[in-house]
Amino acid sequence: MSLEVHKKLAAEAAMEYIQAGEIIGVGTGSTVNYFIELLADLKNRIDGAVSSSAESTKRMQAHGIKVYDLNEVNGIPVYVDGADELTSNLHLIKGGGGALTREKIVAAASEKFVCIADDSKIVNRLGKFPLPIETIPMARSMVARKLVKYGGQPMLREGFITDNGCTILDIQGLDIVDPLKMEREINQIPGVVTVGIFAERGADVLLAGGENGVTQINLSGPEMLTI
Ligand code: 5RP
Repeated sequence: MSLEVHKKLAAEAAMEYIQAGEIIGVGTGSTVNYFIELLADLKNRIDGAVSSSAESTKRMQAHGIKVYDLNEVNGIPVYVDGADELTSNLHLIKGGGGALTREKIVAAASEKFVCIADDSKIVNRLGKFPLPIETIPMARSMVARKLVKYGGQPMLREGFITDNGCTILDIQGLDIVDPLKMEREINQIPGVVTVGIFAERGADVLLAGGENGVTQINLSGPEMLTI
């Protein structure tokens, strides 16, 4: 089975979390795009969606899914999104697609965060994937200098501007021993909009697609799903 099939399996498993009549939080990326396809089949049974990016909004609207502004809704029961790296204690690196700030906002507004991915993204320790940091453009060099103390090499994501008009620094070569501490510290640097560590509000459940199907991981441990 290919990586794409593994992503699709994870997206299918996430459908089990969707209830009729609800507004669903929807993330960004190639794995989520499979989820959006499946959600389109349910569009008359769900109320609509809150989107984490212009890209996902465009895709959902093309499928006729109603997209709400976050300010219009009282709460989001379930948020489904992908990730770039995941650990078994439900910490994530996100932002490979550059949508990390809106993703963090929608995750924070949601009761349950269901993270979908292919199982090659599961790691023992975060940091092999370059850590994305959304930055106010005028502060990017200053932020990059301050980040060097963490042992990584900051690289500007060339030619990329986020939905919020900001730049992204990708920090290569980090070894993230304490994700919660690093998330809190980097968030304090003036000019940082969002760091792509999701530990303060990690996922509630991971659905990882692989050769043998989908493994559901929560804080009680992994469980193979039959779907
Ligand atoms: C976008 C993200 C994505 O969820 C992450 O990059 C995973 O994307 P993909 O499913 O394409 O591998 O955080 O900002």
